[in-house]
Amino acid sequence: MKISVKVPATTANIGPGFDCLGMALPIYNTITIEETVLPGTGIEINVLNDDATADELMLEHIPMDENSIIYKAVELLYNSIGQTPSELKITVQGQIPIARGLGSSAAVIVGGLLAANELLGHPADEVALLSIATEVEGHPDNVTPAIVGGLVLTSQEDDGRIVYTKLDWPDEWNITVCIPDYELSTEISRSVLPKEVPMQDAVFNAKRLGMFVQAVNTKDAELMKLALHDKLHQPYRMKLVPGLDKIIENLRHEENVLGCVLSGAGPSILVISQKNNLDKIKAIVKNTWEEMNVKVNMMTLPVANEGAIIINNENQI
Ligand code: HSE
Repeated sequence: MKISVKVPATTANIGPGFDCLGMALPIYNTITIEETVLPGTGIEINVLNDDATADELMLEHIPMDENSIIYKAVELLYNSIGQTPSELKITVQGQIPIARGLGSSAAVIVGGLLAANELLGHPADEVALLSIATEVEGHPDNVTPAIVGGLVLTSQEDDGRIVYTKLDWPDEWNITVCIPDYELSTEISRSVLPKEVPMQDAVFNAKRLGMFVQAVNTKDAELMKLALHDKLHQPYRMKLVPGLDKIIENLRHEENVLGCVLSGAGPSILVISQKNNLDKIKAIVKNTWEEMNVKVNMMTLPVANEGAIIINNENQI
């Protein structure tokens, strides 16, 4: 039996929603799990990309052994039904950039989990899958949209259960993902965050998250301009993302720009804008980063409304 799952990239936080807002984007990884017929071969995890640099990076950030997050996710699922995984070949292929704040780790966790769930005959429902994926990833804001698609507000409750609600992103608002040529691991990016924040900063974000939800629901661009700010993570991460402060400053007075925020833990940046003016916005981002010798790849993408899907279920035995 061989199962392949296609999983979208995700962006998280999106301004005020630290650890609770996330959105699926149409860049994909494919994770394949194959039961091998030779007993005693154990678990083999491979990466297979056209781009050898991407393979090296993936191996560096997502170790392909039993310490791997993908293995942990698969193991937790097997354990939940009293089994241990063995004789599996797991392959990761894809386009999601590694260590750029676009959910590459969430994608492999979710892909491994969904493929294993299919292989085992669906022992886990969506609630269980969300909970295992969050346990491995540490926070739900990437894994939830990777599983269910779209823009989601998601929370891990005290009993571990993940609850989420979907929001409709206005089609007329562009999401331009700006991916610099340097990496930043989520681990490092989380290590600079404080354990506690000032009350006024918590209130600042609470207000803005409320504005965000209302702004997308009513397509209120002026409200969105107020909403797309954060005091819980971005100020602490600025020093890890050279150029972010200058890009925000240089875009501040562009009429069609609703906001400029860190994508997940960074270093990619999202520019949210209304239609038109994309060339100018991209030129500002490119020039600002180029002045600092940073190359950038930019894509204006729609929301991926569909989450991870099984693309092949081949009984090979
Ligand atoms: N909410 C997480 C963070 C996303 O900001 O650390 C990491 O991808």
